[in-house]
Amino acid sequence: MEKYNVIHFNSLNSTNTYSLEHFSELKDRDVVVTDVQTSGRGRFDRVWQGTSSENLYMTFVIKPETVDNYPFMNLTQYLSVVINRILNKKYAIMSNIKWPNDILFNGKKISGILAETKIENNMLKGVVLGVGINLNTSPAEIIPNAISLKEISGKTIDKDEFMTDVLSEFYNNYDEFVENGFNYIYDEYSKMCCFNEELKIGNSYREGEFSVYKFRKLNKDGTLTVSEIGKEDNKDIKIVSGDILC
Ligand code: BTN
Repeated sequence: MEKYNVIHFNSLNSTNTYSLEHFSELKDRDVVVTDVQTSGRGRFDRVWQGTSSENLYMTFVIKPETVDNYPFMNLTQYLSVVINRILNKKYAIMSNIKWPNDILFNGKKISGILAETKIENNMLKGVVLGVGINLNTSPAEIIPNAISLKEISGKTIDKDEFMTDVLSEFYNNYDEFVENGFNYIYDEYSKMCCFNEELKIGNSYREGEFSVYKFRKLNKDGTLTVSEIGKEDNKDIKIVSGDILC
């Protein structure tokens, strides 16, 4: 059985939008890729477009036979580990992960991931898992604080080779991830992901608003435990999603 099936476009509004709109026709392990992305979307309603065909825009179609016990919550973290592994091992780029799934080099963003669920008649059907990777240009005017692998390494990155590396690494270890969830990546993810003692976490719904917490730990399910600063009860709070500003 083929491990995956790539569906290539010259131009799309967004590989995630296309995958959501065509979800019923698409199969599990289809991967939608486009050279140019005209209305790409990021987390928290941000924009991730790409007029440059030198970068990678792709979406994994995830349609498991049964959604029970599938580790949906950790898919983006699994993909971030897969990409960071390739950068560290094959390209000798010492990038790291910013919780939950951004890939950074010296604080600048190389790659972002956006997972969106497909729900029909109140039932979860699957997920589209989109990733954008700045291979050869950093679209600083669209993605603030971005950097490309070419800028870091001084070499042009072959897009097809990079994509094949990501897809092989993702699907070669996929069954183990699906069976074990975050446990499969916990040790590796912990080493790749650094936390400051204090975390400024942005409000997902109100741009510009944030809270500052004390970092406690990365939990075994990939969530964070933090506590509020300056509160006497020092109560632990679990964070399942958010944008760490610093
Ligand atoms: C983020 O860091 O905010 C997530 C960015 C995700 C961008 C990718 S590019 C391919 C896929 N299609 C989209 O519209 N978005 C994702």
